[in-house]
Amino acid sequence: MSNPREELKRRRTAVEGMGGQKRIERQHQMGKWTARERLAYLLDEGTFEEIGAHVKHRGTLFGMAGAAAPADGVVTGYGRIFGRPVYVFAQDFTVLGGSLGEMHAAKIQRVQDLALKSGVPIIGLNDSGGARIQEGVDALNGYGEIFKRNTWASGVIPQITVIMGPSAGGAVYSPALTDIIIMVRKTAQMFITGPQVIQAVTGETVTSEALGGADTHLKRSGVAHLAADSDQEALDMVRRVLSFLPQNFREEPPVAPTEDPLGRLDGRLADVIPLDANKPYDVTTIIRSVLDDGDFFELQKGYADNLVIGLGRIGGRPVGIVANQPRVLAGTLDINASDKLARFVRFCDAFNIPVVTLVDTPGYLPGTAQEYGGIIRHGAKVLYAYAEATVPKVTLILRKAYGGAYLATCSRSLGADLVLAWPTAEIAVMGPDGAANIIFRRDIEASADPQATKAAKAEEYREEFANPYVAASRGYIDAVIDPVETRGHVARALMVLYNKHDERPAKHHGNMPV
Ligand code: HXC
Repeated sequence: MSNPREELKRRRTAVEGMGGQKRIERQHQMGKWTARERLAYLLDEGTFEEIGAHVKHRGTLFGMAGAAAPADGVVTGYGRIFGRPVYVFAQDFTVLGGSLGEMHAAKIQRVQDLALKSGVPIIGLNDSGGARIQEGVDALNGYGEIFKRNTWASGVIPQITVIMGPSAGGAVYSPALTDIIIMVRKTAQMFITGPQVIQAVTGETVTSEALGGADTHLKRSGVAHLAADSDQEALDMVRRVLSFLPQNFREEPPVAPTEDPLGRLDGRLADVIPLDANKPYDVTTIIRSVLDDGDFFELQKGYADNLVIGLGRIGGRPVGIVANQPRVLAGTLDINASDKLARFVRFCDAFNIPVVTLVDTPGYLPGTAQEYGGIIRHGAKVLYAYAEATVPKVTLILRKAYGGAYLATCSRSLGADLVLAWPTAEIAVMGPDGAANIIFRRDIEASADPQATKAAKAEEYREEFANPYVAASRGYIDAVIDPVETRGHVARALMVLYNKHDERPAKHHGNMPV
């Protein structure tokens, strides 16, 4: 009988050796770190505590009987990030391709259960060939148990996923159920059916990277929130995301002290809006001006860029920013922007992050593609998300706020707690040209010079409505502010709202249009 401590050491060494030197070298050649290297970098130094290191698979078919699979291909445990506890799992591609069998799945479920019970975020580092083929239905069952736990944890604790290798078939759905997906360029791919199946079924030829690489999911499908150039950058992003989030829905997000004065004036904002109402400008200039140290962490950049979302801080406290981007599609709302907006507002609301909405939108994007694509259904999500949210909501109307899009972008009636406006704000049912065409159609048609009449009538309409004062006189806008003083006004509005308490009627859950 060997010395018990020696025996433990021998077993630990075997588990830490993962799939062996050759496979570890191959992992490195592919530009990927191993599961253990990733966890060591992600967590505060020396804080990782592994659990389930001795778990073994129970496969017996197709050469699995007695086959060594250290840690069953997934390293699980807990550690700290910025001193705060987190649960983690990291699939180990060097062991059976990180494939998910019964016990591999049970290890993930174990940390999911612990994270949920203890109100601690969970981070999954995915690098896997998917369901372990040799284990058949036991592997599939393992996924189902994980999906169920992802759903139960949704809105209770932050769930962050990093895709650092393949993620194919149903395996993509655990990540898709989490709050944030970060993908690594070139090494990570997500798809339901891979290039070979697509070729066989539809005849289309596509590479894995084009089909499901990081940029595809960041810019095209909207599945990913962030893309990184390396494992290291992706893991830095996880830490950054967590720096804005509470441990769970019962806690407030962490405050980071700032030297940036709350009442800082910004002269650049005096003329950031071009005099010509149809000229674009970059709304991120305003966002950065309002946030502490101009630090804005944009999410889903590259997808539906007519709407900007992201996280930052004001007075040290995290805020979620939603802003129309006049530079892209004139800042109109479309299907993809609506989905992006609604999900982000719900994310903020789930984790007690106040939402600041900067409005400059001429309305919904017109077109058959939008109507047939269900803009009614998608746009309704935006209304739902804002009206449902109980976090502090501050709206700042910069320029255009027309029609349904005025309502949708967190108007007073939809539940904004405080609505501010710049003197350049224009709140109306529609733009002056469109309005003139409809209400003055007869005058225009009867006129000797229809063009001139139309322009004059549009101007008349603009004079009447294209300002913030009609809305302010009705109380729909609480204050018209000097653009230069924006940061101070927004900061004070948030400060007075931090203890806000708002409730919604009791129910099982709402039936959000999806
Ligand atoms: C068992 C697997 C595996 C799997 C890979 N391996 N995927 N073992 N089950 N699903 C093993 C390989 O046999 C190999 O073992 C090692 O992992 C590395 O794989 P390679 O093929 O050598 O690596 P690479 O060339 O980099 O290719 C990676 C890959 C490819 C693209 C992921 O392995 C692949 O296509 N695997 C199958 C993917 C798949 O179809 N999975 C099922 C998806 S459906 P050795 O011993 O040689 O190192 C699914 C359903 C989920 O997941 C349903 C949920 C509802």
